[in-house]
Amino acid sequence: MPEPAEVQRGLQDVVALESRICFIDGRQGRLIYQGYDIRDLAAHSTFEEVAYLLWYGRLPTRSQLAELRTRMGALRTLPEPLVRQIDQMPAECHPMDILRTAVSALALFEPDETKPGASSIGGAQRLTAVFPSILAQFHRRRTGMPPLGARPELSQAAYLIYALLDRDPTDLEARAVDEALILHADHELNASTFAARVTASTLSDLYSSVTSAVGALKGPLHGGAAERVMELLDEIGSVARTEEVVREKLVRHERIMGFGHRVYKVEDPRATILREWSRKLGEAKGDTHYYELLRALETVVHREKGLYPNVDLYSGSIYSLLGIPHDLFTPIFASSRVAGWTAHVLEEYQDLRLIRPMAKYIGAVDLPYIAIDERT
Ligand SMILES: CC(C)(COP(=O)(O)OP(=O)(O)OC[C@H]1O[C@@H](n2cnc3c(N)ncnc32)[C@H](O)[C@@H]1OP(=O)(O)O)[C@@H](O)C(=O)NCCC(=O)NCCS
Repeated sequence: MPEPAEVQRGLQDVVALESRICFIDGRQGRLIYQGYDIRDLAAHSTFEEVAYLLWYGRLPTRSQLAELRTRMGALRTLPEPLVRQIDQMPAECHPMDILRTAVSALALFEPDETKPGASSIGGAQRLTAVFPSILAQFHRRRTGMPPLGARPELSQAAYLIYALLDRDPTDLEARAVDEALILHADHELNASTFAARVTASTLSDLYSSVTSAVGALKGPLHGGAAERVMELLDEIGSVARTEEVVREKLVRHERIMGFGHRVYKVEDPRATILREWSRKLGEAKGDTHYYELLRALETVVHREKGLYPNVDLYSGSIYSLLGIPHDLFTPIFASSRVAGWTAHVLEEYQDLRLIRPMAKYIGAVDLPYIAIDERT
């Protein structure tokens, strides 16, 4: 029997498949969606354009974009039985748990979309349109807000703000969230996308694949980091205390959330854009407290550990300035990344190969079987 190759812990540096969707140049700090630089997309496009790009591999024409927006606006409404289920979920649960459970439950009411590989593009649009509605259905009930309206005229970014805050955004707020959604929409074979592709590679359906992905995104080493960054900022409290708090954590070998990346060896280009939004929005709202703390944190962490910020460092400060509670940051991330997850699942169906790596066995062999009464 051939020996398995050396173990690549965490599948680090393993190239598992070919993809046209997303390219990360970790040394140059570049991120490309379907050939387009993320900086151009953030500056000139909208989340819906980017979703179209990820799904279809090309930027939409004006009429294609209008059609997609109309379709997604119409797909926001939740099935009544799911609304009732969400209303019964415990109000103290984390919204990521609600999202994971609700996505899974949604499949029960949409059997046509759950056929593996079948009408997946429709499912991709449905899931992307419906994520904000799931979050808002839960959040509005737990905070006593009035019932959610469909508001089909709103973009995904504006709808998210309306749905979670029960108010329309300013143009600046809507643009800030739109750019944040663009920046979070895909990131090659990150853990949650890989989880989605692993599930799809068994010829399971889109909804199951996305349910897997939501579960993977929840972890603090992945999408859960932004929420933890805000906890850290609140713990630090003032610029003067930054050094002391960071040093204490590093002595205890704790990770500083929002820093470091498996692929980027330089600054994450998404962090560069989000930093600017944190400053711009903070100045517009006359509150740069978090921005100043984050700048101080960057300086200390870079000096102490040589680490650069990742996408999660600044995003929470932007959402906080809008008045969005911290536990909704990861679900907002999911409301964007679902476009990427579904694009990857569609790609997986096109070039399907069961994803099934191997483990290097380091346990015992040939142990004599011990009868149950003789075990100690
Ligand atoms: C994202 C992350 C998991 C990538 O880690 P990775 O590729 O597995 O890198 P490693 O865990 O091998 O870390 C390499 C070294 O850098 C250190 N390191 C990496 N990120 C760190 C962080 N955020 N804080 C402190 N130390 C960190 C590790 O302790 C390790 O140090 P050591 O060699 O002295 O033990 C990691 O950087 C991390 O935990 N970051 C914080 C969570 C976060 O922001 N996640 C969002 C990612 S977009």
